[in-house]
Amino acid sequence: MKIGIAADHGGYELKEIIHPFLESLGYEVTDYGAFELDNTDDYPDFVVPMGRALADKELDRAIAICGSGVGASVAANKIAGVRAALINDHFSAHQGVEDDDLNMLCLGGRVTGYMAAQELITAFLTARFTGAERHMRRLHKVHLLEK
Ligand code: RB5
Repeated sequence: MKIGIAADHGGYELKEIIHPFLESLGYEVTDYGAFELDNTDDYPDFVVPMGRALADKELDRAIAICGSGVGASVAANKIAGVRAALINDHFSAHQGVEDDDLNMLCLGGRVTGYMAAQELITAFLTARFTGAERHMRRLHKVHLLEK
């Protein structure tokens, strides 16, 4: 499974921790930056290139981290084919995939601790979209918004 990770300065520290965690689980990880802590950088500069790669199917899933996770999710959801959400609880981390085909997990680097992030990421990456008719119907209505 190919996983993208991206973070601004608010998420940089958590990204640096989860990168080796993902590799230890056997995932192929592409890092879209930031590659150093720069308190003046902007989350769209990292999240948008990763979102485009996700939409182009170069990635299977993606994890975006900013300070709160809000800006990352707002930016990512502007890209057709990206279904991103700020996640702070275990249930939503897997149910978002199962029901809504969530493909980008957004985390707040200043909100979510490392161990909680590990659990949310594991729930997100091991979940699968059920493909149930009611969920397909709802997603179709969402896809129409991208036209
Ligand atoms: C950066 O200071 C912060 O605003 C950003 O990381 C993010 O939290 C925005 O939603």
